[in-house]
Amino acid sequence: MKKITSALVALGLGIALSASVQATSNDEAVAERIKAVGSVCIEGDDSCGGAAAAPVAAGGTRSGEDVYSSKCASCHASGVAGAPKFGTTEWADRGAKGMESLLATAISGVGAMPPRGLCADCSDEELQGAIQHMLDSAK
Ligand code: HEC
Repeated sequence: MKKITSALVALGLGIALSASVQATSNDEAVAERIKAVGSVCIEGDDSCGGAAAAPVAAGGTRSGEDVYSSKCASCHASGVAGAPKFGTTEWADRGAKGMESLLATAISGVGAMPPRGLCADCSDEELQGAIQHMLDSAK
């Protein structure tokens, strides 16, 4: 019985995985997929057991790279809706505003940029780390 159950779970996972792979052609689907994974981990579900859950459970600060990858990349990796794109001069231009101003805007949101980049549980420090990570990517 136990074997049958895990076979079914594995099958279900396989279907879910292939469904999400097919969805990657669509930016919104990517954003949705990334968001769902992030929130499951943050709520302390130990089934995700990965690096994302550990720092939060320990009350620590996630690295700028982690926050960027899990929360900001959905828009900033490809430049959705005019978001300054990771790894381009667009970030050099934004950098001219200074961190204080960029952080304030990231917190309040501007135009198509939602408040806190949709990361409701990000501390100001974590947002700043993610911004720094994007600024550092500027070419
Ligand atoms: C839903 C898409 C979306 C997500 C998710 C998102 N951003 Fe943005 N972001 C934008 C868009 C669009 C702009 C450009 C806004 C404008 O200038 O009108 C932007 C601009 C910015 C800017 C520049 C603000 C300025 O003053 O010029 C910063 C900083 C920023 N985002 C940080 C972040 C961080 C940090 C995250 C993750 C925690 C994040 N964003 C997640 C869409 C997004």
